[in-house]
Amino acid sequence: MKIGIIVGSVRQGRAASAVAQWVKSVAERTEDVTFEVVELSEFDLPLLTSATVPGMANRAYDDERVVRWGQAIDSYDGFIFVTPEYNHSIPGAFKNAFDSLAPEWMGKTVGFVSYGAGNGVRAVEHWRTIVANFQMHAVRQQVSLSLFTEFGDNGLQLEERREGELTTLVEQLTDATRKFVLADELAGATR
Ligand SMILES: Cc1cc2nc3c(=O)[nH]c(=O)nc-3n(C[C@H](O)[C@H](O)[C@H](O)COP(=O)(O)O)c2cc1C
Repeated sequence: MKIGIIVGSVRQGRAASAVAQWVKSVAERTEDVTFEVVELSEFDLPLLTSATVPGMANRAYDDERVVRWGQAIDSYDGFIFVTPEYNHSIPGAFKNAFDSLAPEWMGKTVGFVSYGAGNGVRAVEHWRTIVANFQMHAVRQQVSLSLFTEFGDNGLQLEERREGELTTLVEQLTDATRKFVLADELAGATR
């Protein structure tokens, strides 16, 4: 079982990468599950301008960068979205990356780690309605970090309770993912 931790900011100097590395360091204490950090910026995705709606493309996307992104997302059973809040919602580049694919997300699991002045909770609420379109199973537990008190000049200065919160998120996510993967295997389905 493989979980992708998606770095949801492509900004230079982004805080998202450090958050994702922390998530990985805690998550990989879980046995029998592989966690990988997925840097969105490395895919250099174009803005979605294709005439073919991604859900109708049968994975044959116009742009090689999107094909590569799709193959990466296809290789994961579930995800942790590391998301900042931009203008009271989700980052545009991350939404574009999400919109650029379709079957690769379908029916998979997702958990959210956010941050911002209000701990990024608005971004997560928006993500929850968005991922519902692909029947993704979003776990209840989320980790929401304060930009004001938990991000310092020398890196993350997380509240003590964060590790426990993240551990619960990872447990919920891996439990749900196991069930979905098993159900798919039993049904002989391929994702
Ligand atoms: C375009 C933009 C809009 C932002 N809007 C918000 C916002 O609505 N709420 C908030 O808490 N922080 C907001 N911020 C501040 C971000 O939370 C902060 O810059 C954070 O470091 C962004 O994550 P990143 O460094 O991983 O890109 C905004 C930042 C940017 C770049």
